[in-house]
Amino acid sequence: MTPADRITELRELIRYHEERYYLHDAPEISDAEFDALMRELRELEAAHPELVTPDSPTQRVGGRPVDTFPTVTHRAPMLSLDNAYSEDELRAFDERVRRGLGANGPDGAIDYVAELKIDGLSIALTYEHGRLVRGATRGDGERGEDVTSNVRTIRTIPLGLRHGAPQQPFEVRGEIYLPLAAFERTNREREAEDEPPFANPRNAAAGTIRQLDPRQVARRGLRAWMYQVVGVDGVSTHAESLRLLQQWGLPVEPHWKALRGVEEVLEFCRHWQEARERLPYETDGVVVKVNEYALRERLGATSKFPRWAVAYKFPAQQAITTIRSIARQVGRTGAVTPVAVLEPVLLAGSTIGMATLHNADEIARKDIREGDRVIIEKGGDVIPKVVRVVDPDRPGRSAPWTMPETCPSCGSRLVRPEGEVVWRCERSSCPARLRRTIEHFASRAAMDIEGLGAAIVDQLVEQGLVRDVADLYALTADQLESLVVDPREPRSDRARPRKLGKVGRNLYEQIDRSRGNPLWRLVHGLGIRHVGQRAAEVLARHFGSLDALASAGEEDLQRVPDIGPVVARSVRSWFEDPQNRDLVERLASRGVRTTATEEERRPAGAGLLAGKTFVLTGTLERMTREEATAAIERLGGKVTGSVSRKTSYVVVGADPGSKADKAAALGVETLDEAAFLRLIMPS
Ligand code: IVH
Repeated sequence: MTPADRITELRELIRYHEERYYLHDAPEISDAEFDALMRELRELEAAHPELVTPDSPTQRVGGRPVDTFPTVTHRAPMLSLDNAYSEDELRAFDERVRRGLGANGPDGAIDYVAELKIDGLSIALTYEHGRLVRGATRGDGERGEDVTSNVRTIRTIPLGLRHGAPQQPFEVRGEIYLPLAAFERTNREREAEDEPPFANPRNAAAGTIRQLDPRQVARRGLRAWMYQVVGVDGVSTHAESLRLLQQWGLPVEPHWKALRGVEEVLEFCRHWQEARERLPYETDGVVVKVNEYALRERLGATSKFPRWAVAYKFPAQQAITTIRSIARQVGRTGAVTPVAVLEPVLLAGSTIGMATLHNADEIARKDIREGDRVIIEKGGDVIPKVVRVVDPDRPGRSAPWTMPETCPSCGSRLVRPEGEVVWRCERSSCPARLRRTIEHFASRAAMDIEGLGAAIVDQLVEQGLVRDVADLYALTADQLESLVVDPREPRSDRARPRKLGKVGRNLYEQIDRSRGNPLWRLVHGLGIRHVGQRAAEVLARHFGSLDALASAGEEDLQRVPDIGPVVARSVRSWFEDPQNRDLVERLASRGVRTTATEEERRPAGAGLLAGKTFVLTGTLERMTREEATAAIERLGGKVTGSVSRKTSYVVVGADPGSKADKAAALGVETLDEAAFLRLIMPS
């Protein structure tokens, strides 16, 4: 290959991976691998300057904000931190600090503050007269993106500070992150919508803050911890600044500690290396900072890092085990993904039996084969991954793994569309796909058929009772009552196959009840690619019936607000498939409602709850607080934190706080969860 050819190839690869990372927040390669591609391109271009073109990825300044958010210049550059990867490197940092200050010997112990390093993305908030006026991402450190409207949706970031906070403009910096529970919920939702899950909470947070629709941001449940003030006089230590931030009402991660000397710092790091498993958010290390501002001043900074702080990174948790086999999973849309079935091994406190292998290309690149001893790692990612083969030169290895050409479930031939890495089973009646399709149809966000769990779906498909979702509506109560189901994971010896009995009767009633569901539930349940709950709501409201939706052309669809070309094309091609049209007909003939009521068609947002203010208290069963807030705001209402006479409704969940009492005292109307749901989802 000539250098010119390789340069072209590298540019294409880099653009592809940049897109995966920046646009889709679903990177396929690690940062280090990406950097290696960039480095190779830079070196080649340096050797052949005549081949450099203005559109080469090397000609772009790294980390520049995308066009969609205005650019803002930070009042002082947002520096990054130097890393320490071992206790020795941390001791070396302490020595540099002491040497820099001329504080040698055991008496020269430095006062540090140690904080957990939160794995999210940094944010700078500007307050003026105690009001939040701007939120900006770090960007390249000099300039970031103005994401104020998204930052305002983060419930732990106060829009107004408490009394005593500075009136003059100042900035606070900190980290935005997604708590693990919200991260897991987001990924479950994404999988249900057949979108690729985020690899880790950091990617999920980064992807979320760049969303253009603040309502979607609000739903995700981002959080923030603040750790630095800029532009406030009269503060002389870091510990003091953290206390002030907290006093002003800003969120400060509570586990920080003032420590004397490096040994105490090491103790703190060792403690959190273990204890971090119990936190509801992810931390990837400890940030160690010199406490006294005067000393910081004397130490100064390099062009990139302050000399008075360091990030101690926890070692990635790794284990060695053997790959028993390489299995394949089939998703609802037929995507077939390889997974490594492992000899069970303990890693980071849990037993691991599976690891992702992403796709066939990845397996080939790492040359992973069945029977290999491999290193697996749980880094920032939730699902462990295979890092590399321990002994690739071992004699007697099995043959290189290739993707079998047929579907593991139905045996039909797999296809791999041009330019894609994913192999697909295209048979819509494939049992594995069918199981996933039915699970999605019955899910809470779609037809909401309670009790139709995975074990029952397996049986219905296996016995040929259900060949598509319309068949659910032909099942009789008798059939369901006498269905024999194998418990999926026997928890005790007594968990034997059992008849459904009364459970089957209840399920029958649930299925029957779902016939009358609002149209958007059905539209969502059909599992049309790229049509999530929101798109389904919009489509149901706009077209009012499945018939009208089925006969809408691509252009009609695109004219609907919030519906883009990808969704339009996908809807069109779904309804063009005769099998799908037949499915719709059979659903209708079995009594499933395929039209929207007047209520359902009423324009949302435009004010069903306009002018109404809500206060939420206690735990809701059917939705998170963020979801409830998003629903209220979508309908034009507002959510506030405290009850007053002006509050329209107080929504009372389980274990309510004093707000429920206050509502009663002030005579404000309260709604239990059911009443609230009726209000926000009429019909
Ligand atoms: S202090 C000049 N404190 O880690 C000091 N950073 O690897 C700037 N981070 O860009 C940072 N938790 O996004 C600091 N308690 C903490 C932190 C923290 C997370 C992030 C931050 C920074 C990155 C550096």
